[in-house]
Amino acid sequence: MQAFVLSGYGGPEHTALTEVPRPSPRASELLVRVHAAGLNPVDFKTRAGALKIIRNYPLPIVMGNELSGVVEAVGAGVTRFAKNDRVFARVDKNYMGAFAEFAVVDEDHAARMPASLDFTTAAAVPLAALTALQALRDELHVSAGQRVFIPGGAGGVGTFAIQLAKHMGAHVATTASSRGEALVKRLGAEVVIDYTRERFEDNLAGYDCAFDLLGGDTLARVWSVLKPGGRVVSIAGVPEPVTARKDLGRGSGLAALFWVASLQTRLRAARHHCSYRYLFMHPSGADLAYLASLIDAKQLEVVVDRVFPFAEAKEAMAYLEAGHAKGKVVLSL
Ligand SMILES: NC(=O)c1ccc[n+]([C@@H]2O[C@H](COP(=O)([O-])OP(=O)(O)OC[C@H]3O[C@@H](n4cnc5c(N)ncnc54)[C@H](OP(=O)(O)O)[C@@H]3O)[C@@H](O)[C@H]2O)c1
Repeated sequence: MQAFVLSGYGGPEHTALTEVPRPSPRASELLVRVHAAGLNPVDFKTRAGALKIIRNYPLPIVMGNELSGVVEAVGAGVTRFAKNDRVFARVDKNYMGAFAEFAVVDEDHAARMPASLDFTTAAAVPLAALTALQALRDELHVSAGQRVFIPGGAGGVGTFAIQLAKHMGAHVATTASSRGEALVKRLGAEVVIDYTRERFEDNLAGYDCAFDLLGGDTLARVWSVLKPGGRVVSIAGVPEPVTARKDLGRGSGLAALFWVASLQTRLRAARHHCSYRYLFMHPSGADLAYLASLIDAKQLEVVVDRVFPFAEAKEAMAYLEAGHAKGKVVLSL
């Protein structure tokens, strides 16, 4: 089968469409004929070797972290899916493999595709929407009437996060350039700060929590937006000790490293009487089924910026890496 393979850490020259053997499903896995696969920043970060401290993949490896497609075969222990089911999934982080004609997915990581979506739109959902749901529901515990700040709302995660926070009954402020302003307003953001012209901390105060999608300077400045007791969850800043234990299942060595890396951020949080958590999302078929129900009920819109043919996987990755996607970028197989 054809697959988009990473053969060395570094630039795009280490990736290519290559002929590889078709994977075989283990007992708990589905073999999926992939119809479409979503791209995410984790793809180019993995290629660059930026995440090697967390996951050092043996190379070569088939890239790709989320997909939609049709079940071709099931492992002996699979109980909830059958051949010809239309499914979507965020695939196992230890193996990737979504940028290929066939991929294996653990049945616990898969869900039936929303009936109202085509394959390319469905492939845009799993990673970004699961991230937004798990951050807002499980870490920030967003509830009705709360004020939530989501810096960076126009991209893959942000377009889901704005809508999910609204669905939870929150008031939402976000940042976007003029290129994304109309989109984030349509998705429900009440307050939009143009980050190219204004500093958000000059305009916002008294927020209950922030879901930081940008890290860096944004994370350094977010604290004054929050009220005392406020909570920040970041998916782009610095990991902290809980990340190592809870999200990665790792021991005290990595926790200690993350303790040092996050010290400045945690001190800033403490000075403002706030808390800080860095989240790595996890695959979940149950959460994905819930998101599918929201999509079919027209309560969650999937925003796709561009669809590239599989032959242009490298161009698709370069487009996402430029950092201005509005919603999601998808490969069509
Ligand atoms: N930890 C996890 O589990 C996890 C999961 C998913 C994603 N992530 C991380 O989360 C981050 C966001 O992911 P994504 O998929 O949403 O990325 P994305 O789709 O590439 O985000 C692109 C969007 O960000 C906007 N943007 C860029 N700089 C900005 C700024 N300074 N202020 C406001 N908006 C800005 C861009 O708008 P303009 O065109 O207007 O600049 C663009 O619309 C990435 O770093 C990704 O690796 C982590």
